[in-house]
Amino acid sequence: MERADELLVIKGLGKSYEARRGSRATGKALNGIDFTARPGELISVIGPSGAGKSTFLRCINRLIDPTEGSVSFCGQDIAHRSRGSLRSLREVRRQIAMIFQGYNLVYRLTAIQNVLHGRLGYKSVLAGSLGLYSEEEKMRAFELLDEVGLGAFAYRRADQLSGGQMQRVGIARALIQEPKIILADEPIASLDPKSSRMVMEHLRRVTREHGITCIVNLHQVDFALEFSDRIMGLRFGEKVFEGAPADLTEEAIERIYGGIGSGEETVDVPVALHSGSAVPVATTVAAAVAQATAAAPLAAAVPAAVAVAPVVTEVSVEADAASVVPELAGPAPLPLTTEAPVAGDQL
Ligand SMILES: Nc1ncnc2c1ncn2[C@@H]1O[C@H](COP(=O)(O)OP(=O)(O)OP(=O)(O)O)[C@@H](O)[C@H]1O
Ligand SMILES: [Mg+2]
Repeated sequence: MERADELLVIKGLGKSYEARRGSRATGKALNGIDFTARPGELISVIGPSGAGKSTFLRCINRLIDPTEGSVSFCGQDIAHRSRGSLRSLREVRRQIAMIFQGYNLVYRLTAIQNVLHGRLGYKSVLAGSLGLYSEEEKMRAFELLDEVGLGAFAYRRADQLSGGQMQRVGIARALIQEPKIILADEPIASLDPKSSRMVMEHLRRVTREHGITCIVNLHQVDFALEFSDRIMGLRFGEKVFEGAPADLTEEAIERIYGGIGSGEETVDVPVALHSGSAVPVATTVAAAVAQATAAAPLAAAVPAAVAVAPVVTEVSVEADAASVVPELAGPAPLPLTTEAPVAGDQL
């Protein structure tokens, strides 16, 4: 029996892609996922590359068809709704907005025109293609751009906006859709730490002020820790962690990322080495993540970095940083690789 406050109830969700084998452990991109979301929650989904995060989001809005299990949204079964019943699928999709890593804006159009595209699900094909929007819709688009700090950019072409601004247009476009839920697939993966923070703050505000649920796929564990009400960890298509940020212990991180050390299955995990800044790290060794995270308090205000590499085999620290923090000097006990260190003030 579903509780009245459960917006999304997923049971035994599984997905096998026909063309390729999904995950190493199960042969499925997703296997036996149980998950529930309530209104106004911000839930992060973390896990290594190939863990099934995107597949999970796409099953929720039926961009792909699940092969097992049920997805119930506002009490309606989405997983088994036939694609033939386009009208009802369209109605469901209006209530589920998407935000993408690559923004998915129409770059030759202005910010406000892009926001108005969020209304297309409410229009006939003809009205949509002619761009027929009501005055009320236009006013709302302005308000929402203002809300994400882009009121002055409403008539700027999307291709003249920064990545962070484009993603905020994406948030305004999602909001004008009046969704109950926003699915964001790595919304900050292409952004610098400051823009990432701003986007995450807007998403959190959306949950608090609009009561909209956000499910956000993230590689940035530190942002997941800071902004989420709840975190789900996937690995090889299976749920291996679910809990509050405070429950994401080193042991839990090991369960999610541990032992992933070969082939294509690298993972980008930013760790905060300075107060207020994050450094992206690509690691194949979960223990390296835990070690770097543990080093963070020591490294406060010290120029230090772990650089991106396909396989991380060493943590590097600038010479004077090492003299300030002797624990960070010398070879790291764990097998890690790095490239040139990055000065702290450039991060
Ligand atoms: N269209 C597809 N056809 C076949 N296999 C697919 C398809 N899409 C994804 N997969 C496989 O399903 C698994 C899960 O992929 P998914 O994209 O959901 O992972 P992810 O966690 O989002 O990874 P990333 O962090 O790299 O975005 C992977 O093994 C992937 O190769
Ligand atoms: Mg993905």
